[in-house]
Amino acid sequence: PLPRPYQVPLPLPAVLRPVRTDATTDTYAITQRLARLRILPGLETEAWTYGGSYPGPTLVSRAGRRTVVTHRNELPQPVAVHLHGGHTPHESDGHPTDLILPVGWEMRHPYGMSDMNGTGVTTLGERTYTYPLDQRAATLWYHDHRMGFTGPSAYRGLAGFHLVHDDEEEALPLPRGERDIPLMITDRSFAADGSFHYPALDPAWGTPGVTHHWMEGVLGDTILVNGAPWPVLDVQRLRYRLRVLNASNSRIYKLELDPQPPGGDALVQIGSDGGLLERPVRHDALALAPAERFDLVVDFARYRPGTQVRLVNRLGSGTTAEAMRFDVSGAARTPADETAVPARLSTVERLDPRRAAVTRTFHFQRSEGVGWTINGMAYQPGRAIATPKLGTTEVWRIVSDFHHPVHVHLNPFQVVARDGQAPGPYDAGWKDTVDVLPGQSAEFAVRFTDYPGRFLLHCHNLEHEDMAMMADFVTR
Ligand code: C2O
Ligand code: CU
Repeated sequence: PLPRPYQVPLPLPAVLRPVRTDATTDTYAITQRLARLRILPGLETEAWTYGGSYPGPTLVSRAGRRTVVTHRNELPQPVAVHLHGGHTPHESDGHPTDLILPVGWEMRHPYGMSDMNGTGVTTLGERTYTYPLDQRAATLWYHDHRMGFTGPSAYRGLAGFHLVHDDEEEALPLPRGERDIPLMITDRSFAADGSFHYPALDPAWGTPGVTHHWMEGVLGDTILVNGAPWPVLDVQRLRYRLRVLNASNSRIYKLELDPQPPGGDALVQIGSDGGLLERPVRHDALALAPAERFDLVVDFARYRPGTQVRLVNRLGSGTTAEAMRFDVSGAARTPADETAVPARLSTVERLDPRRAAVTRTFHFQRSEGVGWTINGMAYQPGRAIATPKLGTTEVWRIVSDFHHPVHVHLNPFQVVARDGQAPGPYDAGWKDTVDVLPGQSAEFAVRFTDYPGRFLLHCHNLEHEDMAMMADFVTR
């Protein structure tokens, strides 16, 4: 039986402390290991964790300061760590073939996938990732990216936040500290003993993929926010910054506050995947595909004292129609709020699609006899689907047969059109993931910068990704 909603407080992942810090660099260490977590009442769930918690610890970095993270793998399977949204050199990007083998394995048989073609760099036990983080303040996240097994690994708990701050953002009077709340939304299903129920095709992890029923993506019946089922956050009648991340394998949400405050437009979007928008955008509801982040400000002073405000999912039904609840303080006196949402937040340079060096078209589709493909091809490491020149802008046109949240590594992009029309209500700002709807085409402009090497274009529906909807591109 599922737990009753709104019984537990919203957990906030702990901020990880550096093991070392100097003039230019903050150094961290994370051990990936099994942990028994209390997610459901009276039961324990064995999770795969970054440092023993789910979500993993939050990393907080300063733009322009180098962050170095050494990951040690004490899990039973290989891993690869990707910093999603990071502008990261190839060697540290967590390419799916750049594996960290578990401590105690041997390098002699570096993981026998025949199609790896020696393209990956496998390490034993540990690997150090270096993130220059020469980029805007934004909500990034890190998660497993092992080839063929990102779905089950993330499902078991390998995901965490990595926040980047900068001077521009800090100069704004936005809510901060205890009123700057990351919300990682996921859906999971549990077996009767409390274990995660992931419908892997091969429970022994020999072959990637899921059972036929879940080919389109794995959905769970339990909504977890920051790892807790339908939690509650007590809020004062003040503005809060909510950094919403959809870390689900394949579920798409349409989130709304219920009740809406008088006048609506409760969700004031100040940022997207790649940081601050130029101006705030007001929404009644928020559509959110896997891997997308929306940075919101919600003013709970618009509610009467004591109101219980549910965050509901208009695309869900039954247990998946609710996500969490905000319990507004019953104090009669309205506290003074020193924060504000300025009408102008930042300057966002516009990439001009007419000046693109090239337009490339990528068909994200299910291909007869092959599976989930890009331009009819299943992923093959080492084969480059595109070779953009560093310093140039390109237009990438995605044509989709299904909901495919399309993600590009290395550089963020700007959506310039959907079906030849103006971008949609959730497309503003710098994005790194765009949900292309069934039968739709979307175009975005992207400028590749700084780092030559092999990077990824893929669907962030993790089941599609594992079943080969992924391609390498090589910048030079
Ligand atoms: Cu969040 Cu290539 O992934
Ligand atoms: Cu997809």
